[in-house]
Amino acid sequence: MAYLELNNIYKTYGEGENATEVLSDINLSIEEGEFVAIVGFTGSGKTTLVNLINGLLKPTSGKVLFKGEPVVDTSHERGVIFQNYSLLPWLNVGQNVYMAVKEAFPKESKAVLKQRVNEYVDMVSLTPAINKRPKELSGGMRQRVAVARALAMNPEMIIMDEPLGALDALTRGNLQDEILNIWSKDKRTALLITNDVDEAIYMADRVIPLKPGPNATLGPEFKIDIDRPRDKTALNDNPNYKKTRNAIIEYLMDIGAERKSVSTEEYELPEIAPKSFVA
Ligand SMILES: Nc1ncnc2c1ncn2[C@@H]1O[C@H](COP(=O)(O)OP(=O)(O)O)[C@@H](O)[C@H]1O
Ligand SMILES: [Mg+2]
Repeated sequence: MAYLELNNIYKTYGEGENATEVLSDINLSIEEGEFVAIVGFTGSGKTTLVNLINGLLKPTSGKVLFKGEPVVDTSHERGVIFQNYSLLPWLNVGQNVYMAVKEAFPKESKAVLKQRVNEYVDMVSLTPAINKRPKELSGGMRQRVAVARALAMNPEMIIMDEPLGALDALTRGNLQDEILNIWSKDKRTALLITNDVDEAIYMADRVIPLKPGPNATLGPEFKIDIDRPRDKTALNDNPNYKKTRNAIIEYLMDIGAERKSVSTEEYELPEIAPKSFVA
């Protein structure tokens, strides 16, 4: 039995004439302890997929199974680092993380919870900003709070929806390593959604492209046979890395181009569009 299983998932938004099938025939199986990355274009249905796994959305058809049981609701066992941070604006950084750990460990004493909050706020280098509210933080800082909040809850499975997108390269690299540390030390299972192929290869055991939508479906998987812990600076000289990176990028460019040529046939442009507008 796989740890997480998606069987023939279809997801349509809207009804009748307004119905759009966003995801189509999604099949995926993740083993306990694995780190899987899904790479895809904006708007292809990545967040929809995360919400189906998390239990915030229900598939139109098909099944999501977590440890053999259908997913019917959200659960602390599956922690999500959301793309849009979703912090509570009236609480400061420490309080935002505190709310989450209190929910995850309702029986722990205040002192233990506070200690845990401090530890994770420090992990994302936000100790100097612990008393600030979200509106006083940059996008990157908010994203780090979201990372701290999700990881402090100690979820069995870590689901990440483009968690590091708003960060500068240095912070991004540091947090990639922190997430990898937690994943390997605590033997977690991880699903990373990203549009960054290098990040996907650096972090994951398998990289799977999500084809552009509508009717987005998963492409072939690319196994990442590079020993861990991986050395980011050495990766560039690793022939295995170069080969896999090229293969994934080539695949994404091919399906991107394919979809583009299909879509210009499907959609009629308005009369007023200048000829040069037609790509
Ligand atoms: N609640 C919704 N109702 C209708 N359409 C939606 C909804 N959420 C997302 N979509 C549409 O579904 C598609 C995929 O969205 P999303 O899963 O957010 O993609 P991604 O995360 O890959 O950018 C987009 O075209 C988006 O406009
Ligand atoms: Mg998204």
